[in-house]
Amino acid sequence: MTVDIRTVGIVGAGQMGSGIAHVAALAGLNVVLNDVSEDRVNNGLATVNGNLKRQVSKGFITQAQNDEALSRIKAEPNVEGLGACDLVIEAATENEAVKVKIYGNVCPHLKPEAILATNTSSISITRLAAATDRPERFIGIHFMNPVPVMQLVEIIRGIATDDGTFESAKAFITKLDRQVAVAEDFPAFIVNRILLPMINEAIYTLYEGVGTVESIDMAMRLGANHPMGPLQLADFIGLDTCLSIMQVLHEGLADSKYRPCPLLVKYVEAGWLGRKVKRGFYDYRGEKPVATR
Ligand SMILES: NC(=O)c1ccc[n+]([C@@H]2O[C@H](COP(=O)([O-])OP(=O)(O)OC[C@H]3O[C@@H](n4cnc5c(N)ncnc54)[C@H](O)[C@@H]3O)[C@@H](O)[C@H]2O)c1
Repeated sequence: MTVDIRTVGIVGAGQMGSGIAHVAALAGLNVVLNDVSEDRVNNGLATVNGNLKRQVSKGFITQAQNDEALSRIKAEPNVEGLGACDLVIEAATENEAVKVKIYGNVCPHLKPEAILATNTSSISITRLAAATDRPERFIGIHFMNPVPVMQLVEIIRGIATDDGTFESAKAFITKLDRQVAVAEDFPAFIVNRILLPMINEAIYTLYEGVGTVESIDMAMRLGANHPMGPLQLADFIGLDTCLSIMQVLHEGLADSKYRPCPLLVKYVEAGWLGRKVKRGFYDYRGEKPVATR
C-alpha cells in the first residue's frame, strides 16, 4: 500500500531535522517538528527561519514562499502530536539506544498505515526496524547536509520493508525535488562508506603530524579539487556523528581499516564537536575560523 504523504513529522530538530522541515514545508507539505524540549524545537525553528531568509535574500525563493513555508511548520514538543502524520522521520542523535527509545515512545501514537523513517547515517535499518511495531513500514531516508542545498537522498530498505513503503518514500523525495540513490542495508550505506574513511584518514594525517589542520584542508581543496577540506567537512558534519559512523563501520564490517582515529575520539571527549558547538578542528567563536592544532 502506498501512502500519499501530506503531513510529515520530524523527531529531532537539530541540523538535519530543521533542514528536512525546511525543504518539506517549501514543497507544500505540513510539518510537525518535535525534539526533547520546547527550547530545542524553537532552536530548530529559528534555524529554518534564518535559512529561509537567506534563500529570500539570494533570490532563490520569494517572501511569500518563505511565509507560507513557515506557516506550515508546527512546533510540537510532545510525541502525542505526531498522530496525524503520514510519515515520521527520526533525525535524532546518531545513537542506536536513543533512536530505539524514540520508536518506543512514538509508535503507539502513529496511524497503522503511517511510515516511520530514520535519517541515520550508518546504523542498520533492519535492526532499527526490528525495534518498532512496523518493520514493513520502516525505511531509511538519508538526507545530506545541508539539506536545503544538497540534491541527493539515499533510500535504504530493511529486510522487511514492503514495496508500498519504498514507493511512497521515493515519491516523497521526488516531491522535494531531490534525486534518489537506492543503497543496500550495509553499514554507512554508499556516501558515508566512502566519505567517512577519507575524513578519518585526514584526521590520522593530522594525528601523525604529516600536516597541520590548514595544510591538510588546503591540500585536499587545491590538490583534489574538493569544495572544502576534510577537517572542515568533519566540523560541519559534527565530530560526534563522524565518530559514531566510524564505530558502526568498524564494528559492522569487523575490519581494522575502519578504526576511528584516537584524535577524533579525543575531540569528541572534549566536547569539541565542530561547528554546532563553535569548536572542533577549527574554533568558530571569533570573526574567522582559527585552526585548533
Ligand atoms: N550532520 C550530518 O552531516 C548528517 C548528515 C546526514 C544524516 N545525519 C544523521 O541525522 C541525525 C541527526 O544528526 P544531526 O547532525 O541533525 O544532529 P544534531 O546533534 O544537530 O541534532 C540531533 C537532535 O536530536 C535531538 N534528540 C536527541 N534525543 C531526542 C529524543 N529522544 N527525542 C527527540 N529529539 C531528540 C537533540 O535534542 C538534537 O536537537 C543522525 O542520525 C545523523 O547521523 C547527519
